[in-house]
Amino acid sequence: MSYFRCRRLTMSNPSVGEKGMVCVTGAAGFVGSWLIMRLLEQGYTVKATVRDPNNLRKVKHLLDLPKASTDLTLWKADLVDQGSFDDAVRGCVGVFHVATPMDFQCSDPENDVIKPAIDGMMNVLKSCAKAGTVRRVVFTSSAGTTCVHARRKEEYDENSWSDVEFCRAKKMTG
Ligand SMILES: NC(=O)c1ccc[n+]([C@@H]2O[C@H](COP(=O)([O-])OP(=O)(O)OC[C@H]3O[C@@H](n4cnc5c(N)ncnc54)[C@H](OP(=O)(O)O)[C@@H]3O)[C@@H](O)[C@H]2O)c1
Repeated sequence: MSYFRCRRLTMSNPSVGEKGMVCVTGAAGFVGSWLIMRLLEQGYTVKATVRDPNNLRKVKHLLDLPKASTDLTLWKADLVDQGSFDDAVRGCVGVFHVATPMDFQCSDPENDVIKPAIDGMMNVLKSCAKAGTVRRVVFTSSAGTTCVHARRKEEYDENSWSDVEFCRAKKMTG
């Protein structure tokens, strides 16, 4: 088990507020940190995953959020480590899966971005299945799933998935 009560390391379980406990992956990132601020504001107890909870430079903005000292815990988890989200997801009613490799410069997006993103998604879903408490999983995807084609369409709807072969040929990162 590896989790960190804000500002101090503790091995006791976090207390749960009236709205229940939720997990946010990729907590230190742009979407993750805004989301956590809102969840704390609204009375949720948040288990937040980061790759390096001891790196104050990356987590200080989370530790400084209102209610963080009582309602937020940081958990170490990596998308590429099987089972590393188990502890963070355990006991949660909801999971916001926001963690993703964001590297727009890499030369091998298939292996450096897409594979860890897919493996990570499966990793998180397996943790949810194991936990048995999760009622809803929210995944932040990308507009890149729907609107990437050799030619722009006039209209986009739920059938407008991006052209995967085109994306692969162009080595797109998303
Ligand atoms: N930002 C936007 O405007 C926008 C718009 C549309 C969709 N989205 C989607 O929202 C999601 C999050 O975007 P963002 O802007 O918040 O990105 P971000 O600021 O780069 O945050 C992503 C987080 O993912 C974590 N991460 C990366 N690789 C990881 C790994 N191997 N294991 C565990 N964690 C890993 C990083 O955590 P560490 O800090 O621990 O390294 C980082 O904090 C993405 O799926 C993106 O496509 C974002």
